[in-house]
Amino acid sequence: MVAQAPVRVPVLPALLGRRPASLHHARAVAEALGPLAGARVLEVGPGTGYYTLPVADWIGAGGRLDIFDVQQDMLDLTTRRARARGLDNIVATQGDARSLPYDDRSFDAAFLVSVPGEIPDQDDALRELARVLRPGGRLVVGELFGDPHWVAPGALQRRAETAGLRFEERIGRPLAYFARLSRPTGAWTPTIVADDDERRER
Ligand SMILES: C[S@@+](CC[C@H](N)C(=O)[O-])C[C@H]1O[C@@H](n2cnc3c(N)ncnc32)[C@H](O)[C@@H]1O
Repeated sequence: MVAQAPVRVPVLPALLGRRPASLHHARAVAEALGPLAGARVLEVGPGTGYYTLPVADWIGAGGRLDIFDVQQDMLDLTTRRARARGLDNIVATQGDARSLPYDDRSFDAAFLVSVPGEIPDQDDALRELARVLRPGGRLVVGELFGDPHWVAPGALQRRAETAGLRFEERIGRPLAYFARLSRPTGAWTPTIVADDDERRER
């Protein structure tokens, strides 16, 4: 496991919507995810590939990074940038995170940064992420206040636990954080929420 250095988050840049370099840099994602070399990893919502390229580099030729985005333009841009850097372990797929086109238990780890709040049904997306992770698989969710779709850590924790994920820890402050979650090694049991209750909670 990569050593977990304490992360300090400058609040002003977070309030201004900028990435505080001490938290929202790719190394922090890698530290939160744990070992990457040779792993099969999923990134949902790579955007322009800010985290994608360094993470793919750390995964290396023995592993694979699947990137999944609703916008084909983002996938094309990130793929072009990856090729220019000589990275050929990235596989891009377009679609909506509410329904992931991957088999159960496909991934060792998954991550998404500044994405959940953009997904119309975060509960479905978290359930899908839990489904495609192998038991014991790791999920990192990054959020930065100032993003209009920012999700509070408490809300994320409630939703993730309903999806059958374990909330391990929050790294950083509530305004700008990475949440480390995992799929439990035992039976995976998402809570089924009745449609009406689910809608009221949103
Ligand atoms: C704010 S950007 C974040 C980009 C990148 N993670 C970063 O932090 O630089 C959100 C990304 O999520 C993608 N996205 C939004 N809704 C999505 C959905 N329902 N399914 C998959 N991707 C989605 C967007 O297309 C965009 O690339």
